[in-house]
Order: sequence, then C-alpha cells, then structure tokens
Amino acid sequence: MIGGGYVGLVSAACFAEFGNDVSVVEIDPARLAALRDGRIPIYEPGLDTLVADNIRAGRLSFGHDIAAAVRGAEAIFIAVGTPPRNGDGQADLTYVHEAARQIARAMSDYAVIVTKSTVPVGTSRRIAEIMRQTCPDLAFDVASNPEFLREGNAIGDFMKPDRVIVGLDEDAPDGGARARAVLGSLYRPLSLIEAPVLFVKLETAELTKYASNSFLAMKISFINEMADLCERVGANVHDLARGMGLDGRIGRKFLHPGPGYGGSCFPKDTLALTRIAQEAGTPTRLIEATVGVNDARKVAMASRIVAACGGSVQGRTIAVLGLTFKPETDDMREAPSIPILVRLAERGADIRAFDPVGMAAARPHLPPAITYCDSALDAARGADVLVVLTEWNAFRALSPVHLATAMRGRTIVDLRNIFDPAAMRGAGFTYNSVGRP
Ligand code: UDX
Repeated sequence: MIGGGYVGLVSAACFAEFGNDVSVVEIDPARLAALRDGRIPIYEPGLDTLVADNIRAGRLSFGHDIAAAVRGAEAIFIAVGTPPRNGDGQADLTYVHEAARQIARAMSDYAVIVTKSTVPVGTSRRIAEIMRQTCPDLAFDVASNPEFLREGNAIGDFMKPDRVIVGLDEDAPDGGARARAVLGSLYRPLSLIEAPVLFVKLETAELTKYASNSFLAMKISFINEMADLCERVGANVHDLARGMGLDGRIGRKFLHPGPGYGGSCFPKDTLALTRIAQEAGTPTRLIEATVGVNDARKVAMASRIVAACGGSVQGRTIAVLGLTFKPETDDMREAPSIPILVRLAERGADIRAFDPVGMAAARPHLPPAITYCDSALDAARGADVLVVLTEWNAFRALSPVHLATAMRGRTIVDLRNIFDPAAMRGAGFTYNSVGRP
C-alpha cells in the first residue's frame, strides 16, 4: 500500500484483517514513526484497535522503502494524495505518477498496480504508460479500485460495502483475466458476504467514483432547496424526505437538509466531474448547478444567523456547536463552519465555539478571535444566540432548561435539526431550524 493516509491506512488495516500480509509505505517520517508505534494520526472509530491487532499478528507493517514493500507483492495499491492543483483546482497527480515510477523501478515479478486514489479518467492507463517508459520489460497489469469510505464509518464501509468496483484493462492481451484473478481473490471475503464485486472497464471504474459522489451531493443540494421551499409554503422537510425516500427508486438516505455538504470528497469530486465533462465536450449541467447551490447555501446560512440576530451580529455573542464538516471526525476540509464563521466574525460577532473532537484541527481554518470552549454548555454561557453547525450526538440531549440558564439570549439557529422544536419553544426559545415551519 503506497501511502499511509486516510484511504491507504484504512484499506491496509482491513486487507490485513482479511488475513493478507500488507506493507504500508509512508514517506512522512513523523507519520511513519507514529504508525509504527500503533498511534493513528487520524480520528476514525475502531481504526487504532484494528491497526494494533494486525501489527501484533504480524500481518501489517509500515516502512518508508517502496522497493522493500513492493518485492514479492501480488497487488500494489497506490493510495497517495491527489490534492487540488493550484490554479485550476484539478487533481494534482504528481504523487501518483511518482509512485508509478518508483514501483516500476522496484518491481521484479508480476503484480497488479491498483489505483485507490480518486483520479481523473485515464489515469490508470497513464500509470501503465509511465511504468512501461520507466522499465520496458515489466510484467504487470493496472486496475482501478476506487474507495467509497465515509469518514467515521470507514471500517464498516470497507468490511460491509454496498459494492466493490474494480476497473480492468480490457485491452490487455488476456483481457485483464490475470488481474481479475488477483483482485477477485483479495476481495473474496466480501464475495462470501455477498457484497457485489463489479468488474468493469478502467475508465468506467474511474468515472463511477465521481458519478456516485456527485449524485449524492446532488441529492443533498436538492433537499436543501426543498427545505427552503418548505419554509416558504409551510411544509415539513423531514416528512417530505420520508415521503420521497420510501419510494425505493429514490431511497431515504442523503436527504437530510443542512448548511451544505463539505468534506474531502464531495466538493472536490463534484468540481472534478464538471471539469472532466467540460473537457470531454459534454458538460454536466446538473452537477454544475449542484456546486453553485452548495456554495450559495453556506453564504445563505450565515445570512440566516445574522437575520436571527435581528439584522446585525455586531457585538453579539454567538455560541457555535460543532465545527467539523460532519460528526465523528476531526476533519475540517471544506467544513461549512469556515465560510459561515468567517462571515460572522467579519460582521463583528463574538464567537464562542465547541467541537468534541475537531477544535485543534479547526483553529488554523477559522478567524483568530474565536473563543474555544470546554463543553457545549460552556460555549452557551452568556451567548445571545446558539448555532448548531454539526450534529454530534452529544449535542442532541442538551437540556433546553440548562441552555436557557447558561445563555443570555433566547435564540437558537439549528442548522442540523437536532432539537425538538416544541421542547425548545417550551423553554422560551425562538427556535429556527431548516425546512420546518
Ligand atoms: C463521502 C461519501 O459518502 C463516500 O462514499 C466517499 O468515499 C467520500 O465522500 P464523507 O465525505 O466522509 O464521505 O461524508 P458523508 O457522510 O458522505 O457526508 C458528506 C457531507 O454531506 C457532510 O458535510 C454531511 O454533513 C453532508 N450531508 C450528508 C448532508 O448535508 N445531508 C445528508 O443527508 C448527508
């Protein structure tokens, strides 16, 4: 496994748990030292135990030497970062290409080179080209195996996936049969639990990842627009989502309204898909609109908070619960909290924030003047308005009475709909949520 980042680490630990010998190559010395000690540099429930167990069982090891890891490997996964490139925002493939060169130099026997990183269509073929240029006589196949892990639920998603997508090179002399056998046996434990393992063309696998994430992002933007409409016409978005979702063709999931989607995947992958499609001369107008709706959503949510403060937040104390882009992670990438809190701070708000896990990660992304608090109730102390930005479970049971005692004002803006409107109104609050009258 080349790359001990989020995807690489989770995949490596899970493949090891299936009984395979897995070597992870990590080039960042600090990260490598931590991993070798069984210390996990990311917050992901259950991952620390899984890694420690498999290190102890001798199936999982970490090193910096690609050559050592690649020797004797039947499958070599590339799971290095593909950050958005400066300038045009396209995925930067420098690390992917460099990994391909190093693998080519280190390989001796046949292996399948599998791309796990989310990469533009055509990357797997490009990897094959680079490897052939580096070492013309190598025996290898390329495959594409995008991951569909959700942060906070990554191990469950890996062990019990809805599906596994494997892209193969149909133009290979054997039509990809050998690569299919290697990856088929690696994923056999999942076939046994009847998770569909789909073998498709390389380009199809690469595109499926973008299409899936973009579709989910579109669902979220759709329900966010419906939430706005519900507010105007006096409907309830949760009942609407349930009514829609019970139709099996629509599905119930990802119809929860909120302050807009964030994270490391949806914003990046929707943008990447629109670019890929534009370059291919067949623009995806639905996804272009999805991106626009989501950007506007975050701005609108900041305005909603300002409106709830009577039109100005100047000198107002605002308690903010939740900073990360979703619960059960410390990830701040593209978190809606960033544009929202920047706007509130610019307009003179005094912000008191609490997040159960993400405060250290949040600091560098947020305006300097924020006060970080020890608990939700601590954040609420003396606040005029309480804003919920992330639906951590620990916030759900907050007592309206305790909140009312802690706060100075009586306004709540709940952008994740975690509270019961009647209970909040009963405690004397003006309670604003999304898509509920
Ligand atoms: C996502 C995909 O789910 C996963 O398959 C892919 O591999 C990586 O991207 P992740 O980014 O970890 O996973 O989070 P996810 O749980 O999908 O949530 C993404 C964002 O959408 C969050 O900001 C979340 O708050 C938001 N969201 C999700 C909603 O606003 N409403 C919903 O109904 C669901």
